[in-house]
Amino acid sequence: MTAEPLNHPHVRYVNSIAELVCTPMCAGVNALCLRRSLDGDFTEVIRHLRAERGITTLDRDQLLALRVSDAGKIAIETMLRDQEELRAYGFDPEIDCINGYIGHDQQELMRTDVCSFHIDRATDIADTYLCTYAGASSIGVCHEDVILRAQVPAVRARLLADFGGADDESFLDYLRGNYYDMHYEALPAARTFSFGVGHLWRIAIDYPGTAVPPCIHRAPDPVDGEPPRLILIG
Ligand SMILES: [Fe+2]
Repeated sequence: MTAEPLNHPHVRYVNSIAELVCTPMCAGVNALCLRRSLDGDFTEVIRHLRAERGITTLDRDQLLALRVSDAGKIAIETMLRDQEELRAYGFDPEIDCINGYIGHDQQELMRTDVCSFHIDRATDIADTYLCTYAGASSIGVCHEDVILRAQVPAVRARLLADFGGADDESFLDYLRGNYYDMHYEALPAARTFSFGVGHLWRIAIDYPGTAVPPCIHRAPDPVDGEPPRLILIG
């Protein structure tokens, strides 16, 4: 089982949302974590949602209309408060119920789903905010302990055959254009860590001029019968 990163070289802990938002990421730290033990019954909220398979984005009115117990109401108020506090800083995170992902297509040239280790990317300064309220949590991996999947010889040969050209700058453009430069394989004995449940994270993403390497992460792999997840992401 992947543990939470109590002594991780790239993770720094903070004490408030203000600190989470305002602390610059530098000196190799590419993930900030506000550790929390949340009150409220988040699984009750999931039960009342009866979410369709896939990802359902929940809005405030929909959540407040659920007829849940006091513990369920505390869970809903907690999620909405997180969302509102981040909105006050100009972010726009969403609350999602994830009832299974659309899985990895074995026929694809290379795995590029969210359950594969990947980086997030933006054209301008941005970070990803993430909290798992219920269900399996996301997983991070040290950026020193991975290889770009497109660099795995067998995968690269397949991509080159599909590209139909030489391994030059135009091939790199092809990789970028298909997001093949955003997915990674964990090396043997890679240092992975769990984002845990209840904790609010800010992780570094790839954008021009970023001061730190993006945080490589993945969603939990879908397993038949696994309970749905309730998350904040943005
Ligand atoms: Fe991501």
